[in-house]
Amino acid sequence: MESTTPFFSIITTLIFYSLVSLSASSNPNNPFPKEALPTKSGYLPVSTSSSSAIFYAFYEAHNSTLPLSQTPLLIWLQGGPGCSSMIGNFYELGPWTLTDESPLTLHPNPGAWNRIFGLLFLDNPIGSGFSVAATTQEIPTDQDGVAKHLFAAITRFVELDPVFKNRPIYITGESYAGKYVPAIGYYILKENSRLRGSKRVNLAGLAIGDGLTDPVTQVVTHAVNAYYIGLINERQRNELEKDQLEAVRLAQIGNWSAATDARNVVLRKLRNVTGLATLFDYTRKKPYGDDVVDKFLNNVEAKKALGVKNESLVFEGCSDVVGAVLHADVMKSVKYMVEELVRNTRVLLYQGQHDIQDGVVQVEAWVKTMKWEGIEDFLNAERKIWKVNGELAGYVQQWKSLTNVVVLGAGHLLPSDQPVTSQAMIEDWVLEKGLFQSLQHHENVSRNSL
Ligand SMILES: *[C@@H]1O[C@H](CO)[C@@H](O)[C@H](O)[C@H]1NC(C)=O
Ligand SMILES: *[C@@H]1O[C@H](CO)[C@@H](O)[C@H](O)[C@H]1NC(C)=O
Ligand SMILES: *[C@@H]1O[C@H](CO)[C@@H](O)[C@H](O)[C@H]1NC(C)=O
Ligand SMILES: *[C@@H]1O[C@H](CO)[C@@H](O)[C@H](O)[C@H]1NC(C)=O
Ligand SMILES: *[C@@H]1O[C@H](CO)[C@@H](O)[C@H](O)[C@H]1NC(C)=O
Repeated sequence: MESTTPFFSIITTLIFYSLVSLSASSNPNNPFPKEALPTKSGYLPVSTSSSSAIFYAFYEAHNSTLPLSQTPLLIWLQGGPGCSSMIGNFYELGPWTLTDESPLTLHPNPGAWNRIFGLLFLDNPIGSGFSVAATTQEIPTDQDGVAKHLFAAITRFVELDPVFKNRPIYITGESYAGKYVPAIGYYILKENSRLRGSKRVNLAGLAIGDGLTDPVTQVVTHAVNAYYIGLINERQRNELEKDQLEAVRLAQIGNWSAATDARNVVLRKLRNVTGLATLFDYTRKKPYGDDVVDKFLNNVEAKKALGVKNESLVFEGCSDVVGAVLHADVMKSVKYMVEELVRNTRVLLYQGQHDIQDGVVQVEAWVKTMKWEGIEDFLNAERKIWKVNGELAGYVQQWKSLTNVVVLGAGHLLPSDQPVTSQAMIEDWVLEKGLFQSLQHHENVSRNSL
């Protein structure tokens, strides 16, 4: 009998769990298994004078080795401009992700970024995803405005629970968040230098995946990049180069809106002449299927489960309204902010090898023009071969506070393509383990203010 008791309890448990997942997947009215619910979700007001608020979904660390009060917190920002961080949550790095198959069901993500860190998704700026913009006029038109709102939201979040108070904060994001991440980091440095200790944001580092950061430098790389991977011929390269220079010219004379249009022409033409499904990954036969997130989150029960107040709000993965408000901001650079950030905190840049929109070539182009005392040493640092679970995963180049990672077999939505590798990357970088160890201790790091 002794040996059968645990046996029966295992069977009962198995039956119980299979019933739970059966009812969750077979009942379209209940898209969320209970264990997939965020630890906390809701709204973070961005000012005292309006109802505008940033929607958040927070997932506590699943299996931290540290006490929760010391466990790092990651903040994720989606790009766009105007895309919802719920794309990152349910299609890339959240604990439960959707597959392209129907019916739409959530599956545990083997590469979840909240394994050993707390993970906070913010729908930024207001007007994106489930965030509320009281009026269109309140949506920020530039990076300083974006940062101001994010700062308000982050400080409010930290105040929600004493367990958040002293945790190191890492701000991460993808694509157009290559502008947001430096902008909020820079804003925090400025605020921290004038605020009292307990009011400061405990910024410990920033990570940008496949980012747009210094657009004028990045836009001139597309033709040569496509040419050398055999996607266009020399005549097409010359034509595309003319279009690229037009985007640069318009930016230089400060015609920012037209400069954004000109960049869009470059990207559209490149796609048109190559016939590629997407520039986010030139090896894909069809675009990423992240529109499953739109379908999933337009289910009323999903909205209820996430604590969305307005159930009749139509969820859009990317907001055209926000995209239009930030249209003239697209070609403006935040490189000078990154230059300040590498002097004061740690910065990780990472790209998927197959991304030809904001990928390896585009990022290296602006990094090598950085005005920073360490740039020569960074450019001369060894590009190390990086393995995860014994397999070639990519390359890591690091000098003091700046790290660049190239991930093989991935495109723009890198955590979706290489979940386990992306998890190993963020964990080892945050904890400074393996190839991400810093040999020389950088004296300026964690000084945390200008
Ligand atoms: C939690 O972490 C411990 C030690 O790091 C490990 O042995 C265990 O398998 C982990 N559990 C889960 C559910 O991941
Ligand atoms: C900006 O450039 C566009 C396209 O060349 C042009 O039509 C428009 O008049 C310019 N605007 C300004 C303010 O110079
Ligand atoms: C490229 O543009 C031309 C002219 O607008 C159009 O006829 C063609 O279908 C486009 N090709 C692709 C692959 O989008
Ligand atoms: C809820 O969303 C709907 C659809 O977007 C909108 O018409 C309505 O004004 C919203 N209600 C509130 C209270 O914001
Ligand atoms: C550290 O900070 C000092 C003063 O701001 C600066 O002169 C120095 O170049 C910095 N060192 C690095 C490696 O960023």
